Amino acid sequence: DKSLRKYAKNSNILIGTAIESIQLEDIKFAETLKREFNYITPENSMKWGFIHSKRYEFDFDRADKIVDFALKNNMKVRGHTLIWHIENPEWLLKLENDTSVNFENILAYHIKTVVKHYKGKVYAWDVINEALEYNRYKETFWYKNIGEDYIEKALKWTHKEDPNAKLFINDNMIEEINPKSDFLYELVNNLLSKNVPLDGIGFQFHLKLNNSLDMESVEKNIKRFLELGLEINFTEVDIETEGELTEEKLEKQATIYKKLMILVKKYDKVTAFTTWGLSDKYSWIVREYDNKNPGLIFDEEFNPKLAYYKIKEILQLP
Ligand code: G3I
Repeated sequence: DKSLRKYAKNSNILIGTAIESIQLEDIKFAETLKREFNYITPENSMKWGFIHSKRYEFDFDRADKIVDFALKNNMKVRGHTLIWHIENPEWLLKLENDTSVNFENILAYHIKTVVKHYKGKVYAWDVINEALEYNRYKETFWYKNIGEDYIEKALKWTHKEDPNAKLFINDNMIEEINPKSDFLYELVNNLLSKNVPLDGIGFQFHLKLNNSLDMESVEKNIKRFLELGLEINFTEVDIETEGELTEEKLEKQATIYKKLMILVKKYDKVTAFTTWGLSDKYSWIVREYDNKNPGLIFDEEFNPKLAYYKIKEILQLP
């Protein structure tokens, strides 16, 4: 057995990918998934719009299928996500500006119901997703209706419902040291000083081949969050390429994947590496931008790409 997950396990790393339940019906997909990965993020099915599309009803079917598959195959689950400004149901958005509504109760009820349903089954929650904008809070539905406290309240409610689940704040463009990651750093430092339950930060890493990151800055940034006692997950890695796919581009892409995996391997508390989709066949970038080269580690036929081998090369180091 020379799978990614075998080497990942030996180095205590979670190697994950984001999936939709319907993809499990694709036999090649399911085979590859359980052979190579030990961590699964439901790509959409735990978002409000899917799990709580009617005010007084929850629909756990799709997410349950994913969670059951994961547990049956000895994989861990990343719950994604309890709070986001996107993919919220109509019924919720319609309540905006209604002064008779208690928004805290609505949010607490959602968190309580979902977290309870998956208690002991979801290993880590993205409690908060993409709550920041440049160097400040994003003025989302929850920010406007509850205030900036919604973040710490949500963390506390989640922890209360499942004290063993790891709680994360997940965001994009916080990989390097920049105004956004500075703001996040201050924010979490403050949460921790108030003993708000928080275990880690999710760095998304949605990258494009042509604007690559300053890896030195990424590493410095990782270090400062680790020094706060937090862990880090790489949560949504993909490296999109534009134009025709050439050997050269594949190599460049593989090198970036490798550099990212080196960081995961190097720091004990960088505990997970998740790609945002398993194969190019199902990537959101194909659906959303009609770009056939979303830059995952398996091609449309589920053949491993160069990036796959580069990752493995690092994973199997002693
Ligand atoms: O399920 C409906 C289906 O019933 C309908 O017929 C179809 C028509 O378009 O839409 C389906 O919903 C789509 C859903 O994905 C499931 O495929 C939504 O329109 C579409 O907007 C949604 O996109 C997802 C996006 O988040 C918004 O929720 C992407 O798949 C998903 O990859 C993306 O993931 C996000 C992370 O959660 C957070 N970080 C960024 C990342 C990429 O945007």
